[in-house]
Amino acid sequence: MFNLVMFGPPGAGKGTQSLRIAQRFQLKHISTGDILREEVRRESLCGKLARDYMDKGMLVPDEILVNILRQVVEENRYVNGFVFDGFPRTLVQAEELDQMLEREKLMIKLVLELEVNEDELVNRLVKRATDQGRSDDKPEVIRRRLETYHNQTEPLLHYFRNQGKLVTVHGVGTIDHISDMLYREIEKFHP
Ligand code: AP5
Ligand code: MG
Repeated sequence: MFNLVMFGPPGAGKGTQSLRIAQRFQLKHISTGDILREEVRRESLCGKLARDYMDKGMLVPDEILVNILRQVVEENRYVNGFVFDGFPRTLVQAEELDQMLEREKLMIKLVLELEVNEDELVNRLVKRATDQGRSDDKPEVIRRRLETYHNQTEPLLHYFRNQGKLVTVHGVGTIDHISDMLYREIEKFHP
């Protein structure tokens, strides 16, 4: 199994690139944002708990995320590997994921960080707000999501760097060009 994490701030292109990577390398794409939005839409208990945090641009509590992940990993025992998109976002989540995978004798092989400047991130999300109307793409929530990223998620880069798994890719340019750079990194590990 080949497991990788797509890492980066809101609007970096994690979702866009994860889908392409999953298709090209026959991996299972897991976006915790998409899973949570689906729970909110279904008005499940988990969705009701998550909604307030998401609408404020704050992280949903670790316990909820760890439960979701556990379920998804268990339901997908026979896939070639996972592309984790938007998870882990805290040290607790990262340690839980490592332990969860270790129990199945698996591990994260690679963490791909998409590096994009703040002006570009805001432009992309503001543009998406008009195109798609995701409820957290409002200017004040975008600002909060970026802050949350810097304060709570970005510090995780040290964790991955210490594990020797982190590769940073410049995330500005055409979507195709960025995909090519990411594919090349993956092919070093997963030909
Ligand atoms: P989540 O859904 O993960 O949102 P996010 O991290 O804020 O990131 P986005 O999905 O907005 O951006 P992306 O990096 O996927 O970029 P995309 O490809 O869409 O999380 C939402 C919320 O859920 C969180 O705030 C939190 O509350 C909760 N949550 C989720 N996971 C959690 C966790 N693990 N723990 C706790 N809480 C959690 O691209 C963005 C836009 O740019 C698109 O319109 C795209 O078309 C465009 N674009 C992409 N690439 C390019 C390019 N190269 N050039 C120009 N435009 C581009
Ligand atoms: Mg996304």
